Amino acid sequence: MTENQNQTEYQYTNSWFLGTAKNVWDQLIPQINPTRILEIGSYEGASTCYLIDSLSATKSIEIHCVDTWEGEIEHKPGGSAVSDMSAVEQRFLHNTSLSLSKARNKCELISHKGYSDKELAKLLASGRDNYFDFIYVDGSHQAADVLCDAILSFRLLKTNGVIAFDDYLWAEPLPYGVDPVRCPKPAIDAFTNIYCRKVRIISAPLYQIYVQKVSD
Ligand SMILES: C[S@@+](CC[C@H](N)C(=O)[O-])C[C@H]1O[C@@H](n2cnc3c(N)ncnc32)[C@H](O)[C@@H]1O
Repeated sequence: MTENQNQTEYQYTNSWFLGTAKNVWDQLIPQINPTRILEIGSYEGASTCYLIDSLSATKSIEIHCVDTWEGEIEHKPGGSAVSDMSAVEQRFLHNTSLSLSKARNKCELISHKGYSDKELAKLLASGRDNYFDFIYVDGSHQAADVLCDAILSFRLLKTNGVIAFDDYLWAEPLPYGVDPVRCPKPAIDAFTNIYCRKVRIISAPLYQIYVQKVSD
């Protein structure tokens, strides 16, 4: 590949988004048709660019990306899948710039670099409760963090808006097997149980869970 081609093509090093979300999103995103989007966990921007490419073709959108660009536990020094996260962040910047340059309508991308608990709390404190139409929760996969992301996301979501949780069935590969608090499922289950009078689960393939807010 020439240097020129490299600059005009997306640079992704994995197929997480293609493998889990894309097929469902092809059906669901046009139905939700979100204008204000929050993404927790952007990595190289695969899901971000999908949303910009598909939605900004027909209307203006606002998309907020929250990420530490430090990786998850397994990407950090000593983890099982250590990654060069500064190169990941550079690819996010390249990919989203490319996507924004192709947008046919106004697209405002706001990056919030930091831990999601603090960044979501700041969004709430800035008056963005009941603000977002679609929230993608794909940041930390530790149960306590996912529970915090779920509860703060519910506050930030408009009534009728949708939260998508990635990796419902994912568990960290550990030498001693599955640790029940080092995976998202118990947190997503706790959230959907406790909020059962305020949310409904949208029928979709099981690897992700889609939850619509039906009342505040
Ligand atoms: C699985 S990746 C996101 C993948 C991306 N949505 C995609 O489709 O390609 C998870 C991201 O969450 C970020 N992350 C992990 N824990 C976080 C936390 N507590 N707060 C903010 N970001 C976090 C990591 O830095 C990583 O970039």
